[in-house]
Amino acid sequence: MAAKGTVKAVALITGDNNVRGSLQFLQDANGATHVKGKIMGLSPGLHGFHIHALGDTTNGCNSTGPHFNPLSKNHGAPSDQERHAGDLGNIFAGPDGIAEISIMDKQIPLSGQHSILGRAVVVHADPDDLGKGGHELSKTTGNAGGRIGCGIIGLQSAV
Ligand code: CU
Ligand code: ZN
Repeated sequence: MAAKGTVKAVALITGDNNVRGSLQFLQDANGATHVKGKIMGLSPGLHGFHIHALGDTTNGCNSTGPHFNPLSKNHGAPSDQERHAGDLGNIFAGPDGIAEISIMDKQIPLSGQHSILGRAVVVHADPDDLGKGGHELSKTTGNAGGRIGCGIIGLQSAV
């Protein structure tokens, strides 16, 4: 049962090579958002997983812009002080290519000034190095490679 004031959102993930899935977003009373769901059609292993700034898929996942970064920080791990709000780290796909996702994060609210509603969630081809890989892209994208799946985060009935 959803508590009063609870905000819910949903994203349907589509992409290359049968990457697909669905994610639910549920913001709790303390402002933390729980991201829960499943993405299929992935290569086994780690895949970078972020909120990108734009809910624009006119050119597929490539038009979703950079990582959502309202505080102008460098890229990092979800547990870092220095991170983009959209930095959710990695998801892990098993040998069956399925990633079961359950992430709790305080920087991705569904309401207010830094809301992620109308933005996109993106899954990448490669692992996110969490800003520590020493690559020229580590501090901006985590060097996570191509965007293999994405979906726009839309408001869902809270009932
Ligand atoms: Cu990304
Ligand atoms: Zn980032």
